[in-house]
Amino acid sequence: MRKNLNTPMLMLCIALACATSALAQGGGRGRGAAGASGGPPPVQLLGGRFKAYPQDAADRGLPLYNTNCGYCHGERAKGGKSGPDLVVSDVSLHDEDGIGMGEYLKGAKHQGVAKLDLPPATIYDIAVYIHSRITVAALNRGGDTHPDEVLKAGNADAGKAYFNGAGGCTKCHSVEGNLKGVGAKYDAVTLQDRIVMPQRGRGGRGGGRGGPVPAGPPDPLAITATVTLANGQTFKGLPIRVTDFDVTLRFDDGSTQTWARNNGVPKVDLTDPLAGHLELMRTLKDSDMHNLTAYLATLK
Ligand code: HEC
Ligand code: HEC
Repeated sequence: MRKNLNTPMLMLCIALACATSALAQGGGRGRGAAGASGGPPPVQLLGGRFKAYPQDAADRGLPLYNTNCGYCHGERAKGGKSGPDLVVSDVSLHDEDGIGMGEYLKGAKHQGVAKLDLPPATIYDIAVYIHSRITVAALNRGGDTHPDEVLKAGNADAGKAYFNGAGGCTKCHSVEGNLKGVGAKYDAVTLQDRIVMPQRGRGGRGGGRGGPVPAGPPDPLAITATVTLANGQTFKGLPIRVTDFDVTLRFDDGSTQTWARNNGVPKVDLTDPLAGHLELMRTLKDSDMHNLTAYLATLK
């Protein structure tokens, strides 16, 4: 299955290249990875190359997708009995904020198969859910399934060299600090997954799940947003919905606020503490990944 690697990566890059979002220019403080030589440097959201969507929207989008699209397009948008795979669809890959998707659904071709008349907010949520599936497909990289195979595929010495050198991992990590014993913490398959996509939501309540806001400290890895009004006033919170036309934040006390947007005003800066890792996802070669996994697996 490893041969499939390039297909999803390429598709993602197409999506990245066309996601020229004016909003995703993160400039805030990155948090997380405590313990490594004074903590990580500030990380930035990946500019126009990668659009980060609110986790809330993806969470809302899942049931909306299942109700409105899933019976044709299949579970997790991977294609079904009476609709094509939406994860590899050009329409999905070129979509931004559900706008392209909405136009496609309104078009004669799709109206011919399904007479859907959904409000833009619903299509936005569904599209964000589909975008999240595209990201997951790119991350899974064809899916190694057996820990032994993952380990056999890599060279620990090469992984160590890459970790300390070209990989730039030591900017945020140390094998004596925040990655100490990581090889004992996960099996090799999970470890490889965590290298590309550390888990959000372990440290506290995250951006997602909708519904009532659970108590507890905020998730240090959640994507946060800063809204800057024309008069300079700023608001910081969890992004619930961010498009070119409006932005909704949720604050620590659970309340929400929405602003209309016009020509990028108010400005929205998203900060993704895991931006460095998303960047890795784009640049790591298969061999680097296997070598890193083999190396980190020795840290017991
Ligand atoms: C009744 C079945 C049905 C439902 C419900 C349905 N679709 Fe489709 N969809 C199809 C079929 C059949 C096609 C292929 C023909 C076409 O392109 O219109 C398609 C095509 C598409 C495509 C283009 C895929 C490509 O070729 O790139 C997109 C995007 C899409 N659907 C999105 C959706 C979304 C989002 C929903 C839910 C809001 C939805 N569809 C609901 C049957 C359905
Ligand atoms: C820009 C900062 C940054 C860089 C560079 C970086 N990481 Fe991370 N990494 C993080 C953050 C933040 C986390 C999440 C916090 C955590 O899990 O400790 C994380 C988590 C991880 C985890 C999961 C740890 C766990 O206990 O679940 C692994 C494994 C990991 N990184 C491997 C790597 C490797 C390998 C490299 C180099 C190829 C790398 N990281 C480069 C910031 C970074």
